Amino acid sequence: MSSTICNVASLAGDGIGPEVMREAIKVLRAVEKKFPLQFNLTEAPVGWAGIDAAGQALPDATLALCRKSDAVLFGSVGLPDRDPTLPKEARPERAALLRLRKEFSLFANLRPVKLPKELAHACPLRPERHGEGIDILVVRELTGGMYFGQPKKTEVISPGVTRAIDTMVYTTPEIERITHVAFRAAQMRRRKVTSIDKANVLENGVLWREVVTGIARQYPEVALDHMFVDNAAMQLILKPAQFDVVLCENLFGDILSDEAAALAGSLGMLPSASLGATTGERTFGLYEPAGGTAPDIAGKNLANPIAQILSAGLMLRHSFGAQAAAAAIEQAVGKTISAGFRTGDIFNPADPGARKVGTREMGDAIAAAL
Ligand code: IPM
Ligand code: MG
Repeated sequence: MSSTICNVASLAGDGIGPEVMREAIKVLRAVEKKFPLQFNLTEAPVGWAGIDAAGQALPDATLALCRKSDAVLFGSVGLPDRDPTLPKEARPERAALLRLRKEFSLFANLRPVKLPKELAHACPLRPERHGEGIDILVVRELTGGMYFGQPKKTEVISPGVTRAIDTMVYTTPEIERITHVAFRAAQMRRRKVTSIDKANVLENGVLWREVVTGIARQYPEVALDHMFVDNAAMQLILKPAQFDVVLCENLFGDILSDEAAALAGSLGMLPSASLGATTGERTFGLYEPAGGTAPDIAGKNLANPIAQILSAGLMLRHSFGAQAAAAAIEQAVGKTISAGFRTGDIFNPADPGARKVGTREMGDAIAAAL
């Protein structure tokens, strides 16, 4: 049987990045033994690791590697306490992560949030609130809005008075393409899209609502709801089971996806896919856990590697069309949780079936469950 060759740039980055990446690679090597896939993984520095190795958060060689790869498996970047003299434009969040998103036009960010029943204890809501289960896909626009809009600057406008400006900008094509992503995803789920905006105040919100409503006509089998972002923040806590696909612009999606992840027990469980346009059969994508570098627990074998491992699964699904292998990773994670393996963030001492394990043991168990 001939194998599909998957050229993957592996950018572990900072904090817990390297140790959770190690576990994801372990799982990919186990996938290779069972499926006709072959991973050519090339590691490269990014973030503070890039600054230390090559003087740039996104070294030229790392960017060149991403360009010739089919997908990027990304760890996390940014250490807020390091070198406050480094200007914000050169810091990893902007110079590496936002740059990669923009450079590769990764406009569609998918963040699937699921609360497994064994982890119901980790959900901060009372059980009756999530009784029907939480299974939400946040579809976040990733290359527009206030993150990138111009002007964006800080200026002194008179003695002692400084002004900061960020600009929220969206064009109709930008809203249209992310709306299609949300509706296509909904067709394969519970056929409901909740579109988030602030149409009662923002010009952007009015346009967003108009464009989403227009595109929705092409998907008559999918139900569409609109919700103001403040109400959505509240509804997520009051009645999370009402949501299937949540469609957001960039900043609202950043905020609501963290909120949704907390409902699912831990930020350490939330993977993400950042996708560009599909060319031919393949979609270039960057796959990363949504949880960040967690410097407080870095290097201690405490981090939950599941978000990174599930991100590798999303990579198989979206960039390599390997649905069966992706499903196998998801099932292996499910089995491992059912078997009682828990990193500290999802451990409940009151659960007699739960066993507290480290990053490595969790990765070993998931690889073995494949
Ligand atoms: C995320 C992160 C990033 C963002 C930061 C690190 C720039 O919070 O991926 O959600 O705001 O997009
Ligand atoms: Mg965020």
